[in-house]
Amino acid sequence: MKKQMVAGLVALGLLSANGLLTVTKADAENAASWGPKWTADDQLILPEGYREWVYLGSPLTPHALNDGAAGFPEFHNVYVQPEAFREYRKTGVFPEGTIMLKELQLTQPGTEEDGSRFEVSGRGYFPGAFNGVDASVKDSKRFPDAQNWGYFNFGHHAPPYAASAPAAPVAACAQCHIDNADEDMVFSRFYAPLKN
Ligand code: HEC
Repeated sequence: MKKQMVAGLVALGLLSANGLLTVTKADAENAASWGPKWTADDQLILPEGYREWVYLGSPLTPHALNDGAAGFPEFHNVYVQPEAFREYRKTGVFPEGTIMLKELQLTQPGTEEDGSRFEVSGRGYFPGAFNGVDASVKDSKRFPDAQNWGYFNFGHHAPPYAASAPAAPVAACAQCHIDNADEDMVFSRFYAPLKN
């Protein structure tokens, strides 16, 4: 093998010390297509088609239950790539390249003082307009200082969202996940499809 090519493979992590190819199937798929895409200056590019990913759940923290001032009064719709989801279901581990994406979705305008409204199915909170995107990426090479996950904010407002986003400081995002998440920086207690 040419020296340059060997160096390239080592850089990609495809070649182990004894010269055997150690790439796993998930890694191969990752390199090919489903992993995160980055700009030249290391910003995460807003993933395309995430509403077609596996939908994990929608925590809701309405103003009425948070002294009228919830930081995120919307539904928090959480998605993960199908490839990462399948790998997690098989192994119990989120593979390198996993993206967890949380899209905020406002509730329909309330007619009652707690922000709820009446619809055909009853009184409650109903999904309305999209209002922001946050994402996290598992990448042990880029984010060794935050337990292998980077955090990104694409805007807390109506679409269009930012096309790309820089990694947020550890104190802004990762630290709360380090301190409080259930496993590997993810709040899996809310994501029944991961476990059932
Ligand atoms: C004060 C704690 C806290 C901070 C700070 C925080 N998060 Fe989270 N994050 C949570 C909780 C709790 C959840 C679980 C779902 C929910 O309640 O929305 C969550 C869920 C997420 C998810 C869905 C996947 C998962 O890990 O469960 C993403 C993506 C995410 N946060 C990104 C971010 C980003 C980006 C920032 C910084 C801009 C951030 N978070 C800051 C507490 C926090």
